[in-house]
Amino acid sequence: MTFFEKVYSTGIVPVVVLNNADDAVPLAKALLKGGIDFMEITFRTECAADSIAMIAKEVPEMTVGAGTVINVEQAALAVKNGAKFIVSPGLDEGVVIWAKENNIPVIPGCVTPSEIMKAIGLGLNVVKFFPADVFGGIKAIKALSAPFGQVKFLPTGGVSEANLKDFIENKSIAAIGGSWVCKKDDIANHDWDKITALSANAVKIIKETRA
Ligand code: 3PG
Repeated sequence: MTFFEKVYSTGIVPVVVLNNADDAVPLAKALLKGGIDFMEITFRTECAADSIAMIAKEVPEMTVGAGTVINVEQAALAVKNGAKFIVSPGLDEGVVIWAKENNIPVIPGCVTPSEIMKAIGLGLNVVKFFPADVFGGIKAIKALSAPFGQVKFLPTGGVSEANLKDFIENKSIAAIGGSWVCKKDDIANHDWDKITALSANAVKIIKETRA
Protein backbone atom coordinates (compact mmCIF):
# COMPACT_ATOMS: atom_id res chain seq x y z
CA MET A 1 0.00 0.00 0.00
CA THR A 2 1.16 3.53 -0.70
CA PHE A 3 1.24 6.08 2.09
CA PHE A 4 -2.04 7.66 0.99
CA GLU A 5 -3.75 4.27 0.60
CA LYS A 6 -2.81 3.60 4.22
CA VAL A 7 -4.15 6.99 5.31
CA TYR A 8 -7.43 6.20 3.53
CA SER A 9 -7.58 2.77 5.07
CA THR A 10 -7.24 4.15 8.62
CA GLY A 11 -9.52 7.08 7.74
CA ILE A 12 -8.47 9.30 10.64
CA VAL A 13 -5.36 11.27 11.52
CA PRO A 14 -5.59 12.61 15.08
CA VAL A 15 -4.25 16.14 15.57
CA VAL A 16 -2.13 16.03 18.71
CA VAL A 17 -0.94 18.89 20.93
CA LEU A 18 1.54 17.67 23.52
CA ASN A 19 2.86 19.72 26.40
CA ASN A 20 5.04 16.96 27.76
CA ALA A 21 7.11 14.56 25.65
CA ASP A 22 6.65 11.87 28.32
CA ASP A 23 3.02 11.63 27.21
CA ALA A 24 3.96 10.80 23.61
CA VAL A 25 4.51 7.05 23.89
CA PRO A 26 1.51 6.23 26.13
CA LEU A 27 -0.68 8.37 23.85
CA ALA A 28 0.57 6.57 20.72
CA LYS A 29 -0.16 3.23 22.40
CA ALA A 30 -3.64 4.36 23.47
CA LEU A 31 -4.50 5.43 19.91
CA LEU A 32 -3.13 2.18 18.49
CA LYS A 33 -5.17 0.15 20.95
CA GLY A 34 -8.24 1.95 19.58
CA GLY A 35 -7.28 1.05 16.01
CA ILE A 36 -5.62 4.30 14.91
CA ASP A 37 -2.13 3.90 13.47
CA PHE A 38 -1.59 7.49 12.27
CA MET A 39 -1.01 10.58 14.34
CA GLU A 40 0.09 14.12 13.68
CA ILE A 41 2.18 15.78 16.40
CA THR A 42 1.75 19.52 16.00
CA PHE A 43 4.63 21.98 16.13
CA ARG A 44 2.56 24.16 18.41
CA THR A 45 4.53 23.15 21.46
CA GLU A 46 8.22 22.97 22.27
CA CYS A 47 8.28 19.22 22.74
CA ALA A 48 6.97 18.29 19.27
CA ALA A 49 10.28 17.07 17.83
CA ASP A 50 11.20 15.09 20.96
CA SER A 51 7.74 13.54 21.06
CA ILE A 52 8.00 12.46 17.42
CA ALA A 53 11.44 10.95 18.11
CA MET A 54 10.16 8.92 21.06
CA ILE A 55 7.20 7.53 19.15
CA ALA A 56 9.28 6.74 16.06
CA LYS A 57 11.71 4.80 18.24
CA GLU A 58 9.40 3.10 20.71
CA VAL A 59 6.12 2.59 18.85
CA PRO A 60 7.11 1.49 15.33
CA GLU A 61 3.56 0.35 14.45
CA MET A 62 2.47 3.98 14.69
CA THR A 63 2.99 6.16 11.61
CA VAL A 64 3.91 9.44 13.26
CA GLY A 65 3.94 12.70 11.35
CA ALA A 66 4.40 16.37 12.08
CA GLY A 67 1.58 18.89 11.97
CA THR A 68 1.32 22.68 12.00
CA VAL A 69 4.56 22.76 10.00
CA ILE A 70 4.90 26.27 8.63
CA ASN A 71 8.48 26.37 7.33
CA VAL A 72 11.24 24.19 5.91
CA GLU A 73 13.25 24.32 9.17
CA GLN A 74 10.41 22.68 11.08
CA ALA A 75 9.87 20.13 8.31
CA ALA A 76 13.55 19.18 8.34
CA LEU A 77 13.65 18.99 12.15
CA ALA A 78 10.53 16.82 12.18
CA VAL A 79 11.87 14.40 9.58
CA LYS A 80 15.28 14.27 11.28
CA ASN A 81 13.42 13.14 14.41
CA GLY A 82 11.50 10.43 12.62
CA ALA A 83 8.38 12.11 11.21
CA LYS A 84 7.00 10.06 8.30
CA PHE A 85 4.78 12.80 6.88
CA ILE A 86 4.23 16.56 7.06
CA VAL A 87 0.95 18.43 7.48
CA SER A 88 0.65 22.22 7.19
CA PRO A 89 -2.27 24.49 8.01
CA GLY A 90 -1.67 26.30 4.69
CA LEU A 91 0.37 25.90 1.54
CA ASP A 92 4.02 26.93 1.69
CA GLU A 93 5.69 26.17 -1.61
CA GLY A 94 9.10 25.76 0.04
CA VAL A 95 7.81 23.13 2.46
CA VAL A 96 6.09 21.19 -0.33
CA ILE A 97 9.14 21.27 -2.59
CA TRP A 98 11.46 20.26 0.27
CA ALA A 99 9.18 17.37 1.24
CA LYS A 100 8.92 16.14 -2.33
CA GLU A 101 12.69 16.29 -2.79
CA ASN A 102 13.06 14.23 0.36
CA ASN A 103 10.30 11.75 -0.56
CA ILE A 104 8.21 12.71 2.46
CA PRO A 105 4.43 12.77 1.96
CA VAL A 106 3.17 16.30 2.52
CA ILE A 107 -0.40 17.54 3.06
CA PRO A 108 -0.73 21.33 2.86
CA GLY A 109 -3.87 23.18 3.84
CA CYS A 110 -5.89 24.47 0.86
CA VAL A 111 -9.39 25.94 1.05
CA THR A 112 -9.70 27.99 -2.14
CA PRO A 113 -9.64 26.94 -5.81
CA SER A 114 -6.43 28.92 -6.33
CA GLU A 115 -4.67 27.18 -3.44
CA ILE A 116 -5.83 23.80 -4.70
CA MET A 117 -4.55 24.65 -8.19
CA LYS A 118 -1.21 25.60 -6.69
CA ALA A 119 -1.06 22.24 -4.87
CA ILE A 120 -1.92 20.39 -8.10
CA GLY A 121 0.79 22.36 -9.88
CA LEU A 122 3.27 21.17 -7.25
CA GLY A 123 2.29 17.58 -8.00
CA LEU A 124 -0.05 16.92 -5.06
CA ASN A 125 -3.50 15.34 -5.03
CA VAL A 126 -4.24 15.24 -1.30
CA VAL A 127 -4.75 18.49 0.63
CA LYS A 128 -5.82 19.41 4.13
CA PHE A 129 -9.04 21.43 4.37
CA PHE A 130 -8.71 23.60 7.46
CA PRO A 131 -10.56 24.95 9.38
CA ALA A 132 -13.23 22.80 7.77
CA ASP A 133 -16.16 24.09 9.83
CA VAL A 134 -15.34 27.73 9.07
CA PHE A 135 -14.73 27.22 5.33
CA GLY A 136 -18.00 25.48 4.57
CA GLY A 137 -17.45 21.91 5.72
CA ILE A 138 -18.54 19.04 3.52
CA LYS A 139 -20.71 21.34 1.40
CA ALA A 140 -17.62 23.29 0.32
CA ILE A 141 -15.63 20.11 -0.27
CA LYS A 142 -18.39 18.73 -2.51
CA ALA A 143 -18.44 21.96 -4.53
CA LEU A 144 -14.64 21.99 -4.87
CA SER A 145 -14.66 18.34 -5.94
CA ALA A 146 -16.57 19.20 -9.11
CA PRO A 147 -13.64 20.98 -10.81
CA PHE A 148 -11.00 19.11 -8.79
CA GLY A 149 -12.14 15.49 -9.04
CA GLN A 150 -8.56 14.23 -8.80
CA VAL A 151 -8.05 15.86 -5.38
CA LYS A 152 -8.77 14.19 -2.03
CA PHE A 153 -9.28 16.20 1.14
CA LEU A 154 -8.26 15.83 4.78
CA PRO A 155 -10.79 18.01 6.60
CA THR A 156 -9.86 19.13 10.10
CA GLY A 157 -11.17 21.79 12.42
CA GLY A 158 -14.55 21.11 13.96
CA VAL A 159 -14.68 17.47 12.88
CA SER A 160 -16.04 15.27 15.66
CA GLU A 161 -17.90 12.08 16.44
CA ALA A 162 -21.13 13.97 15.67
CA ASN A 163 -20.32 14.95 12.06
CA LEU A 164 -17.63 12.45 11.09
CA LYS A 165 -20.07 10.36 9.04
CA ASP A 166 -21.05 13.35 6.85
CA PHE A 167 -17.43 13.67 5.75
CA ILE A 168 -16.48 10.02 5.48
CA GLU A 169 -19.42 9.09 3.23
CA ASN A 170 -18.03 11.40 0.55
CA LYS A 171 -15.65 9.90 -1.99
CA SER A 172 -13.45 13.01 -2.04
CA ILE A 173 -12.36 12.51 1.56
CA ALA A 174 -8.92 10.94 2.04
CA ALA A 175 -9.41 10.81 5.81
CA ILE A 176 -10.60 13.15 8.52
CA GLY A 177 -8.47 14.78 11.18
CA GLY A 178 -9.18 16.22 14.57
CA SER A 179 -8.26 16.53 18.18
CA TRP A 180 -11.40 15.16 19.80
CA VAL A 181 -10.03 11.63 20.23
CA CYS A 182 -7.06 12.98 22.22
CA LYS A 183 -8.11 16.20 23.88
CA LYS A 184 -5.51 18.22 25.78
CA ASP A 185 -7.27 17.54 29.10
CA ASP A 186 -7.48 13.80 28.51
CA ILE A 187 -3.77 13.72 27.72
CA ALA A 188 -2.95 15.86 30.77
CA ASN A 189 -5.06 13.54 32.96
CA HIS A 190 -3.42 10.47 31.41
CA ASP A 191 -6.87 9.19 30.60
CA TRP A 192 -5.52 6.66 28.09
CA ASP A 193 -8.58 4.40 28.34
CA LYS A 194 -10.85 7.27 27.33
CA ILE A 195 -8.57 8.06 24.37
CA THR A 196 -8.63 4.40 23.32
CA ALA A 197 -12.44 4.32 23.60
CA LEU A 198 -12.88 7.53 21.57
CA SER A 199 -10.45 6.19 18.95
CA ALA A 200 -12.22 2.85 18.71
CA ASN A 201 -15.55 4.60 18.29
CA ALA A 202 -14.22 6.85 15.53
CA VAL A 203 -12.77 3.82 13.72
CA LYS A 204 -16.10 2.00 14.10
CA ILE A 205 -18.06 4.92 12.59
CA ILE A 206 -15.60 5.15 9.68
CA LYS A 207 -15.85 1.38 8.98
CA GLU A 208 -19.64 1.34 9.24
CA THR A 209 -20.00 4.41 7.03
CA ARG A 210 -17.81 2.95 4.31
CA ALA A 211 -19.36 -0.53 4.45
C1 3PG B 1 -6.00 21.23 13.13
O1 3PG B 1 -4.90 21.76 13.18
O2 3PG B 1 -6.28 20.46 12.23
C2 3PG B 1 -7.04 21.60 14.13
O3 3PG B 1 -6.52 22.33 15.17
C3 3PG B 1 -7.82 20.45 14.62
O4 3PG B 1 -9.07 20.95 14.85
P1 3PG B 1 -10.00 20.44 16.03
O5 3PG B 1 -9.26 20.77 17.30
O6 3PG B 1 -11.28 21.24 15.87
O7 3PG B 1 -10.21 18.98 15.86
